[in-house]
Amino acid sequence: MEVIVGQELNLTRQDVAGNNGRFFSEALTFDDVLLVPKRSSVASRMDVSLATKLTNNISLNIPLISANMSTVTESAMAICLAQEGGFGIIHRNLSIEREVQEVYKVKRSENTIIEKPFTILATDTIERAVAEMEKHGVSGLVVINEEKKLIGMLTGRDLMFETGGKLVSEVMTADPVVGKYGQAIEELIELMRKNKVEKIPLVDENNVLKALVTARDVLKKKKYPNACRDSRGRLRVGASIGIRGDYKERAAAVLDAEPDAIAVDVAHGHMERVIEIVSWLKKNYGCEVIAGNVATAHGTRDLIAAGADVIKTGVGGGSICITRTVAGTGVPQLTAIMNCAEEAAKHGISIIADGGIKTAGDVVKALAAGASTVMCGNLFSGTDESPGRVIFRNGKRFKMYHGMASWTALQGLKDSDRTPEGVESMVNYKGNAKEIISNLLGGLRSGMSYSNAHTLQELQQNAEFIRITNAGLRESHAHDVEVI
Ligand code: XMP
Repeated sequence: MEVIVGQELNLTRQDVAGNNGRFFSEALTFDDVLLVPKRSSVASRMDVSLATKLTNNISLNIPLISANMSTVTESAMAICLAQEGGFGIIHRNLSIEREVQEVYKVKRSENTIIEKPFTILATDTIERAVAEMEKHGVSGLVVINEEKKLIGMLTGRDLMFETGGKLVSEVMTADPVVGKYGQAIEELIELMRKNKVEKIPLVDENNVLKALVTARDVLKKKKYPNACRDSRGRLRVGASIGIRGDYKERAAAVLDAEPDAIAVDVAHGHMERVIEIVSWLKKNYGCEVIAGNVATAHGTRDLIAAGADVIKTGVGGGSICITRTVAGTGVPQLTAIMNCAEEAAKHGISIIADGGIKTAGDVVKALAAGASTVMCGNLFSGTDESPGRVIFRNGKRFKMYHGMASWTALQGLKDSDRTPEGVESMVNYKGNAKEIISNLLGGLRSGMSYSNAHTLQELQQNAEFIRITNAGLRESHAHDVEVI
């Protein structure tokens, strides 16, 4: 294909409609198209594989990512997505310390062997111990001395009848069941079963604390067989940084919590500063970098050249975005995905389709158009796992959903001089995010079956889009009935 017109989009000569190539004939989005049904050998919708990759080094079992937005993804949402096989990215509208904690919460949530368990000194007060447990959201602490040697265990049970004013050493369980660091997990489970204990600290030959194993985590591992885990069995999670202010400090602190990828979170990802920061991250930390947002082949190419491991695609298509009205800029999302995916594929890199996903059908179209994963904000907002409380209004339940460039979010990012490019909104309370995921996957499986696709790669190969009119769109929705 011959690329012309400032190299921004992958366009052929036929796509350009004059005026020195400054106008393109057409750009489409999800509602402009449908997928044409194909003769299909998919016998059952459960026969399809939804496995995909976030980056070349991170595999996912489902192609869904929750958006790094303050009203969408903190640890609860990220844990839910990863348990189901997807991926959540913690937002950056938090203090550095809190973002680090949110990453830790995910990484420790189902960690069969916890390498750096939370500890307390035997000489500390129980008030301090309770504060530490609350801060980290854990139900117990390992008690050590100054030389990091194991002294005991402190759990909720030890504190149940305490009213304060004592030292940890006075109330802890002093003779806990102990395992050896490196001992087989099956032996440790047997030790827990025999002694009816939920937590076993693991020590080296000098009784120095090395790790902790908990029954809760062992059981959870069995409960979520499709979960997205790292090589140490921990749930995967991403974290975000910006490109100004504290970004260097934030990157260093957050990476210490060992997220699986860092998202360089910027509305206009095709900025020279973003390119520099992507290179800086790769050079200094060698971490997996999610870069964006871009909506053109040129943007994709430049971020990949800077070292990006995956490209986040979408400018102005999100449900809370007003970039297209405020700045007059953007590319309808289906065309953006096709352009970015085509360019990224030349370099063996994947793209994330970010924004504008309203239905399971849009997920199918985004993946068929070339994305490896789909990022959703709106669809996951308003759930139990999204941050914020439920609001009651006129007998109905809602939660807040804010654009990250809305006035409210910009205050949090200390960027209030900027003209807002997002809105604050209320969305219906939707219950459990797991059910939303399940409905989206049901639609995806169905869409794959219509396109004769057993895998997401086959979906991309087989998909045939057809352009529809407004009448076609109207016909596509329930019509001429009173929906109940
Ligand atoms: P959905 O459609 O899932 O989109 O709600 C979520 C995506 O929208 C982007 N985003 C914004 N874009 N102004 C924008 O122009 C904003 O304030 C804003 N906040 C989020 C972001 O890419 C997100 O994943």
